[in-house]
Amino acid sequence: MRRARIIGWGRYLPEAVVSNDDLSARIDTSDAWIRQRTGIRQRHVAAEGQLTSDLATAAAAQAIESAGLTVDDVDAIVLATSTPDNTYPATAARVQAKLGMTRGFAFDIAAVCSGFIFGLTMADSLIRTGQAGRVLVIGAETNSRILDWTDRGTCVLFGDGAGAVLLQGETGTGTTADHGLLTCHIYTDGRGYDALKVDGGPSSSPLVGHVRMDGKEVFKHAVQNMADSALTAIAASGLTPEEIDWIVPHQANQRIIDAIGKRLELPMERFVSTVADHANTSAASIPLALTEAIGDGRIRPGDLVLMQAMGAGFTWGSVLARL
Ligand SMILES: CC(C)(COP(=O)(O)OP(=O)(O)OC[C@H]1O[C@@H](n2cnc3c(N)ncnc32)[C@H](O)[C@@H]1OP(=O)(O)O)[C@@H](O)C(=O)NCCC(=O)NCCS
Repeated sequence: MRRARIIGWGRYLPEAVVSNDDLSARIDTSDAWIRQRTGIRQRHVAAEGQLTSDLATAAAAQAIESAGLTVDDVDAIVLATSTPDNTYPATAARVQAKLGMTRGFAFDIAAVCSGFIFGLTMADSLIRTGQAGRVLVIGAETNSRILDWTDRGTCVLFGDGAGAVLLQGETGTGTTADHGLLTCHIYTDGRGYDALKVDGGPSSSPLVGHVRMDGKEVFKHAVQNMADSALTAIAASGLTPEEIDWIVPHQANQRIIDAIGKRLELPMERFVSTVADHANTSAASIPLALTEAIGDGRIRPGDLVLMQAMGAGFTWGSVLARL
């Protein structure tokens, strides 16, 4: 059985850090409110002129290097982003050029905060069907460009960053002992379209727009959908929750992560959380959390890692992988 195995990983966070206190100097909020409602302490923000493709390229180059390979070994780039450099072409095409890659194909996917999970699922399909041998999956965002910095209900929640993994096709036994992606489940329910959106875009307005959100509605769906898709992955794999070594959820809000922990009845020590330092980096949040826990030695080769996300659309889903 063909499996898509994660063989490299990389990340990039812009240098500038904006603390909650920095924000409370500009708008009517406080460090205490933000921490208590979200767990967020700070966020990274891209420098002027720094593009989503710059963040993505830095993370991707690191992922290729960590696998001991070069761009010539990569067949495809799948870039999850909601903050493309331009309306078109795909930012993935620009990343391909910036990496110096002159072969294969590259495209973007727009599944917002579920983008990395959708991207892994696309890469899994490309690899299993033989369309590509090695696929880079990148989540990269410059959320700071689409925030209304006067709206305290949204601007405190998001940050910029990028994370990437390189996947390679390998032959496995078809059991859960295999390395690689074991299950992928993705979902969309467009009835949630207006609960979280950017109120601009080429066909509806001349503007790029800003993030608008019904926070309570999104919170409710986030807990429900992320917990459900995690349980679906566990059931589909035939494993028990206790056998999962690490949960790497989308990093939107510590209270959402805590609520998922309760639903899954798993101890919080098994959850990777970076929301305090990164805030919500949308498509980049899972690969940033994953690479942090691999980098500090928590997640080790052979570990079972369950990733799940929920985002605007609504979109949601999960991927269970053995590193
Ligand atoms: C945004 C969120 C933190 C707000 O928390 P909440 O408990 O629902 O708070 P409410 O929206 O009910 O607001 C409560 C009060 O705090 C105020 N408030 C909102 N943002 C604030 C801020 N940054 N600082 C201080 N006060 C704030 C509101 O104006 C409201 O005041 P009021 O009672 O006088 O009207 C929460 O709804 C949430 O996390 N939702 C999910 C968001 C998310 O993760 N989105 C991305 C998913 S991919």
